[in-house]
Amino acid sequence: MSSLTEISVSSPADFHVHLRQGPMSSLVTPHVREGGFSLAYVMPNLKPPITTTEQALAYKHDLEKIDPSVHYLMTLYLSPELTPDEIRKAKRAGIVGVKSYPRGVTTNSDGGIESYEVYYPVFEAMQEVDMVLNLHGEVPSDASANVHILNAEPTFLPHLFALHAAFPRLRIVLEHATTRAAIEAVKSCGNTVGCTITPHHLALTVDDWAGQALNFCKPVAKYPDDRQALRQVIKEGHPRFFLGSDSAPHPSHAKTTCATDHGCAAGIYTSPILLPLVTDLLDSFGALDKVDGFVSRFGREFYKVEEVAPALRDGGDGGVVLRQVPPERLQDNRVPERYVSANGQEDVIPFWAGRGIRWEIVK
Ligand code: NCD
Ligand code: DOR
Ligand code: ZN
Ligand code: ZN
Repeated sequence: MSSLTEISVSSPADFHVHLRQGPMSSLVTPHVREGGFSLAYVMPNLKPPITTTEQALAYKHDLEKIDPSVHYLMTLYLSPELTPDEIRKAKRAGIVGVKSYPRGVTTNSDGGIESYEVYYPVFEAMQEVDMVLNLHGEVPSDASANVHILNAEPTFLPHLFALHAAFPRLRIVLEHATTRAAIEAVKSCGNTVGCTITPHHLALTVDDWAGQALNFCKPVAKYPDDRQALRQVIKEGHPRFFLGSDSAPHPSHAKTTCATDHGCAAGIYTSPILLPLVTDLLDSFGALDKVDGFVSRFGREFYKVEEVAPALRDGGDGGVVLRQVPPERLQDNRVPERYVSANGQEDVIPFWAGRGIRWEIVK
């Protein structure tokens, strides 16, 4: 534990967030700023998924209408419709990355990929124009091969190595890493391979989601030793490991009832509390001095995002100051039990609902 009672973070950037569409988007998009962030790297798994430049630009426009003060970086969903020509068009339009989902692994991933080789012409074009490939690093469960949700990520890692070997200059991000094996794999790759880590995977292990639907997400949180490896790489200040919250809102009924074919919806919602939450967690394992690197600098460096956020126009510099909440005030700094949309029709239960957070943003 540090004795610091205030820290400043230069320009918080969330390099993996789900901002949805429609009324849910209106509810959650303003929470990016509320959580202390001025940059959002936006996932494309809408219904239908964002597969073209035109759709991505329209989606960006929708998000800017909801909150123009955030810098939105847009992505496409890897699908057979995606061509090298579309990649070049997307690059010219300012789209930053392409997210690949293995088929059936997670929310709205039914259209995801089965084999990477068919996409090699697309990856070649991405490498050429310097777009980023974002990997959901899990293979689908397969009982006959003993593949299941606990080993789906380690089983995926040979795909990462194969892609990196075939496209050594292509920037690849292994998203939401959850295992020691994944951390070691990314470390062993060259400088073009980065990795996002979520706050919930720094907090949870299997014991916390088994039987507790609100803590269920994909990839699932793994073993204590895996969590230790995630914490350790942050403590080391390794510059290729940075924050991507994977904040993924679902209506409370979808989380708390087994409403879908696969049981309750996967996803943990952290956007409105993100910076205090991450600071609390890093403080808890002695990495308070790494908050600025993990949350601001490393991701921006990997993505080569120099620009200042639009928020800067109103006089700020995107920097945020946090202060420690003294124990006697912890009960006043509790996470809301739920967030409800203006019309009362959308409601989301956040991570750590009702719990006190030991850091707060200084307004
Ligand atoms: C997806 C993603 O990464 O974008 N999952 C996740 O983020 N945990 C969302 C999805 O599953 O489609
Ligand atoms: O838990 C998850 N939720 N993991 C994902 O990969 C997708 C996400 C979502 O979109 O809900
Ligand atoms: Zn994912
Ligand atoms: Zn995600």
